[in-house]
Amino acid sequence: MEFVVQGGRRLEGTLRVDGAKNAALPILAASVLTEDAVHLTGVPDILDVRRMGDILQILGCDVQHTGGTYRVCAQSMHKSEMPDALSKQIRSSIFLLGPILSRFRKATVTYPGGCEIGLRPIDLHLSGLRALGVDVQEDGGVIRCDGSHMHAGDVHLDYPSVGATENVIMAAVCLPGTTTIHNAAREPEIVDLCRFLGCMGGKIEGAGSATILIEGVKRLHGTTYTPMPDRIVAGTLLCAGAITGGEVELTNVPVEDLHAVCAKLREMGCVLHEEADIIRLIAPQRLTAFSMLQTQPHPGFPTDMQAQMLALLSVAEGTGVIVENVFENRFGHAGDLNRMGARILCSGRTAIVRGVENLTGAHVTARDLRGGAALTLAALRAQGETIVDHAELIDRGYDHLEDQLNRLGAAVKRISST
Ligand code: EPZ
Repeated sequence: MEFVVQGGRRLEGTLRVDGAKNAALPILAASVLTEDAVHLTGVPDILDVRRMGDILQILGCDVQHTGGTYRVCAQSMHKSEMPDALSKQIRSSIFLLGPILSRFRKATVTYPGGCEIGLRPIDLHLSGLRALGVDVQEDGGVIRCDGSHMHAGDVHLDYPSVGATENVIMAAVCLPGTTTIHNAAREPEIVDLCRFLGCMGGKIEGAGSATILIEGVKRLHGTTYTPMPDRIVAGTLLCAGAITGGEVELTNVPVEDLHAVCAKLREMGCVLHEEADIIRLIAPQRLTAFSMLQTQPHPGFPTDMQAQMLALLSVAEGTGVIVENVFENRFGHAGDLNRMGARILCSGRTAIVRGVENLTGAHVTARDLRGGAALTLAALRAQGETIVDHAELIDRGYDHLEDQLNRLGAAVKRISST
């Protein structure tokens, strides 16, 4: 599938932000922690979420969904072994490890494997579970976990991994006693997962801080919940306004979770008005380069917005530097931006960008989700037509991005290659 983009249009208008992929995925996984029905609304209609639904069904759950509304009932769940092929399709399948162990005291999974942006090991997930007394055997790509002696306890994470923090929380929420996670990840999606577990009767304190305390409960009950809005989708749409010199208003925005992104956009000369869950961006005719951006775990600058900011920097006045501290191989989009006329030099985890006045339409290839979104942003600004190949990667995290951009006045067409 490809996007065909006619560039050079100034974007303008108002959009409502969808639910967050990185909140909905662990929340769907956590829904197997109860045998009662869980009702979710405002779930983004994106590929990764649909695939998580498929995995839950294969594990024996009753999953029904229409649009953004999901009903999951894990009463009939009977499998503790993850389907290999499907779990390789989405890395987030690993979020089921903790919940399956909590339900069955045993679980078998295969390595979710790496992706374009890095090797993405799961050693921190496994060391966290071992600290809870899980016996983990790794053999030829298969991981067998025996949780018959699981217990609450202290978990120290060497790095504040989002996924490892979420897996340990879900493994510990029904374990008698107190589990403490030290050096936990502080991402807003973790706070949202803990809010969801709280609605099911879980007892968790400190979500959003580096120390999380989980008081195990006997059982969790069903609930109705709406995952938080997607701060990365919101950031991407703000960047669409910024790169086209436009004026964009977003509603249903998690404003407090976008401070780092908004600060960089202001540094580039954008005017931003924030009010409750609304952000209005007014872009200058030409952006100004920021000197340095470093990606960090939350509340630092989110790595999932790095590619979009690289696209902005490529047309800004001046020179700027981006350092990618979270993933070891997340500049795959730089080469394609250079094909459009950008001047980006990459060395290891650092990119040095000398901004150009204009980009030119070209045939480029999406190599990962956020890189694909960044190429689409650059295409909006470029003169002439751009073809973004493998745009199906963008569907993994955006619900029909082309429709959202076209509602702001863009000209993006989706062309299926089959
Ligand atoms: C989550 O991935 C997000 N995915 C990612 O979003 C996001 O980039 C990332 O957090 C960081 O914010 C979802 O929530 C579904 P990590 P996760 O564990 O949990 C290393 C997107 O575009 N690490 O915090 O996989 C790892 O290799 C995606 O929406 C280990 O070394 O991220 C990476 O370098 C991409 N060992 C760093 O830590 C481990 O056991 C951060 O990974 C785990 C992680």
